[in-house]
Amino acid sequence: MGKNTFYITTPIYYPSDKLHIGHAYTTVAADAIARYHRLNGKDVFFLTGSDEHGQKIERVAKERGKTPKEYVDGIVKGFQDLWQKLDISYDDFVRTTEERHYRVVQDIFREIYEKGDIYKGEYKGWYCTPCETFFPETRLVDGNCPDCGRPVEVLQEESYFFRMSKYADRLLQHIEANPEFIQPTSRRNEMVQFIKGGLEDLCVSRTTFDWGIPVPIEEGHVIYVWFDALTNYLTGIGYLDDKEMFQKYWPADVHLVGKEIVRFHSIIWPIILMAAGLELPKKVYGHGWLLFDSDKMSKSKGNVVDPVVLIDQFGVDAIRYFLLREISFGSDGNFSWEALVGRINADLANDLGNLVHRSSAMMKKYYKGVVPEPGPERPLDAALREDAANTRRKLVSLMEELDLSTALATIWRFIGSVNKYIDEAAPWALARDESKGDELARVMYNLAESLRVISLFIYPFIPSTAKEIWARLGLDDELTDHLLGQARWGEMPPGTVIRPGSPLFPRIEDEKPPAKAPEAPQKEAIPEVAIDEFARMDIRLARVLEADRIAGADKLLKLKVDLGGEERQIVAGLAQHYRPEELVGKDVALLANLKPTTIRGELSQGMVLAAAAKDGRVRILTVDEEMPAGSKIR
Ligand code: MSP
Repeated sequence: MGKNTFYITTPIYYPSDKLHIGHAYTTVAADAIARYHRLNGKDVFFLTGSDEHGQKIERVAKERGKTPKEYVDGIVKGFQDLWQKLDISYDDFVRTTEERHYRVVQDIFREIYEKGDIYKGEYKGWYCTPCETFFPETRLVDGNCPDCGRPVEVLQEESYFFRMSKYADRLLQHIEANPEFIQPTSRRNEMVQFIKGGLEDLCVSRTTFDWGIPVPIEEGHVIYVWFDALTNYLTGIGYLDDKEMFQKYWPADVHLVGKEIVRFHSIIWPIILMAAGLELPKKVYGHGWLLFDSDKMSKSKGNVVDPVVLIDQFGVDAIRYFLLREISFGSDGNFSWEALVGRINADLANDLGNLVHRSSAMMKKYYKGVVPEPGPERPLDAALREDAANTRRKLVSLMEELDLSTALATIWRFIGSVNKYIDEAAPWALARDESKGDELARVMYNLAESLRVISLFIYPFIPSTAKEIWARLGLDDELTDHLLGQARWGEMPPGTVIRPGSPLFPRIEDEKPPAKAPEAPQKEAIPEVAIDEFARMDIRLARVLEADRIAGADKLLKLKVDLGGEERQIVAGLAQHYRPEELVGKDVALLANLKPTTIRGELSQGMVLAAAAKDGRVRILTVDEEMPAGSKIR
């Protein structure tokens, strides 16, 4: 058995400004991983913090007429408020200005100095202040920073150097012997190339400003901000103050970082640890970025999105879900208003929200809300049980790989299967037939059980929704006590009372950025019509033969229907309510003599009729028994 602890960290953020939604991504992802391991029975330690030193912070504070500490205190408070709003379950928060951290950084610095791997020399070179990074002349791009493209400054000073070059071979060997150490593989390959290109000794002190941790050996020098920051991963688990705790959690299981700082975590940090005689972290994982309309978010481009505004408008779980689903394993994702609203409406309001709503409403109708003793399993019921077991297995392996987006896609595929199970099992039909009591009881039990299992699956990602569903299921113990291993089928106790509730995720109808105030809804009196006016409508039953999405139109589906010997193409605004495959084979009510039109370049010869509820749900009209396609609806 491996150890039962799990230590995960986020980068510590620069309090030069408030955080945007891109920063929130790293922390939300780390939180989902931490919660997953807790649910799995691990003793988890989850660390985050703030990286408060360095020239940039010193300058920004000065511009605002504050001391650096006064300035960062306000910003760091904002970080902590944001994490609370985002339901981040961190165990400790290291501020690099804390005394406990000073001691650790100075201790490590002195230790490496005494071993001879930090030495004094003269630094002459280039420095990018926004990135707090030194670059040799050869790496500059048109004389600018190779990472951010901004101007660099020339720097000449007496400095301390860290003998990185000495460790290059050892580090390469470690990377080669431990394929899991840097992930995903593409980043690992980049790092291997980088090290093979040769490592220069690193300048680890500065004398031109003093907002930093003093070099313990000589006054007037402060420690390089990355040396200071990386060491927070030791501070947070009691490196000097609680040896037992340190032994328990070190080495870290995962340092989760954005792709642009993988280099610091997989080259500088391991070499600091080697030089200090400490074990290396098990994994450095470099995730992709959240782009804004395909561009990097940055204050200077004016395209930053404030997470607080989004949470206030859509709720915390909608934002957590969006972030974790939209950035796929190892690559970049895109933030756009349409993508966010699309995810909320299709995945949360429709797939999950509807499932909860339909299931609890039927339970109330057929069993007064009390989960029945299940009848025997038919093949359709067994298939659902097996689907749940497969989903759990896949989820476990995807979470081990930190593939959060595919993990969510896998859960949502299961949610889709449960919705389909309802359609196929048709409990409303079973309820009409007294001889089908056992079948109905099995179907309704399975729905309650599916919701229980789904709560466990989604808990790491959207914990408050998971807890809400859990509570509505009438399960009185705490969801968080449940091991994921217990997401096994059949643990829902019959006799439990299910409580319906308001929609978990109301649909977003106003698909515009929040800056634009929603228009007041207009209430118009609907005039009466005469029967002959109604008779002018040729409404007929159409069988859906094919259904496809339309590229670039996230609300529309293109249908091919049979009107009884006549085939037509219809463009219907159903994409956020139905997956294409759910519609194929269905008989729908079609307004057949609507004037043909072209929508998004596609011919539409009619309109599918559907019921639209106030809470945003939309369901098609169909018949309750097989009828010939083309039948007139009167
Ligand atoms: N202070 C350093 C980290 C030191 S760790 C010992 C730092 N801070 S940061 O505030 O600039 O960034 C912190 C994290 O936010 C990084 O993981 C970075 O990748 C992440 N993100 C910042 N913008 C982002 C996006 N637009 N999208 C996803 N993550 C992004 O670097």
